[in-house]
Amino acid sequence: MKIVELSNDELCLSGIGELDVMLGGGIPTGSTVLVVGGSGCGKTTLCMQFLLNGAKNDERGVFFTITEPLFKLTKNLEGFDFYDKKLIESGMVNLIDLRIISERLGLDTEKYTVEDASALLDILKDIAEELNVKRLIIDSITALCYRLQTPEMIRDFIFKLGSSLAAMKCTTLLTSEVPPKKFQYSQYGIEEFISDGIIFLGDYERKGDLIRTFQIVKMRGASHSRTKYAMSISSKNGVELAPLLRSRE
Ligand SMILES: Nc1ncnc2c1ncn2[C@@H]1O[C@H](COP(=O)(O)OP(=O)(O)OP(=O)(O)O)[C@@H](O)[C@H]1O
Ligand SMILES: [Mg+2]
Repeated sequence: MKIVELSNDELCLSGIGELDVMLGGGIPTGSTVLVVGGSGCGKTTLCMQFLLNGAKNDERGVFFTITEPLFKLTKNLEGFDFYDKKLIESGMVNLIDLRIISERLGLDTEKYTVEDASALLDILKDIAEELNVKRLIIDSITALCYRLQTPEMIRDFIFKLGSSLAAMKCTTLLTSEVPPKKFQYSQYGIEEFISDGIIFLGDYERKGDLIRTFQIVKMRGASHSRTKYAMSISSKNGVELAPLLRSRE
């Protein structure tokens, strides 16, 4: 298959050097990308860096959190040099706790019906459209589906989410939590099918150290490397990628 070269408008730059190089410039604009990994592997940090880098380039973004309350999320962010409080104050970056919205909708019950989850999805869409965001994050899709009771309800909801995101013009990152050392892309086994791209964050043990790994598994419409990279997280540079072999030196 011939891969069509995309112009800059059609590419969403992550601002994470090696990632954009690996993708031939950036993520195809409008894609839905699943960022998969175990606990603490850097999903939230990668998504935040993508969002803040976009905002620095005049691309407004929204981050819907379901797993962490806003005060913790902001506190963690303050530890990184890529964080700029002004981007939040100016409304270029919007951090929204979906649990607070669901409480306001009266959806603070233990179990959701598909209608409840759809109502939440409608609000999410309205917010994204009203803010005219170019970048959208849901952290995490696993938690978003958690209160749905049956695999059928989860499947229906994930497909609905997929078609809603596909209709939006923004580039979306969905985080997905998987148990450590499992080669699977999602908790429910269907999230990957609504996604145009999959980024897999893993761990690799070397002499008692856990090395973070990063791999692009798929990215529709892009000719990309599938090489496993070593990923580091530092206050100064946030997420950084280097070929795994070079990181051994
Ligand atoms: N300021 C910082 N400087 C360097 N490393 C940091 C900093 N803040 C966090 N980290 C590293 O990032 C890790 C957490 O990353 P992050 O929260 O993005 O992971 P996650 O995959 O979203 O985790 P979870 O599954 O718990 O949501 C921490 O365990 C720590 O190792
Ligand atoms: Mg997280």
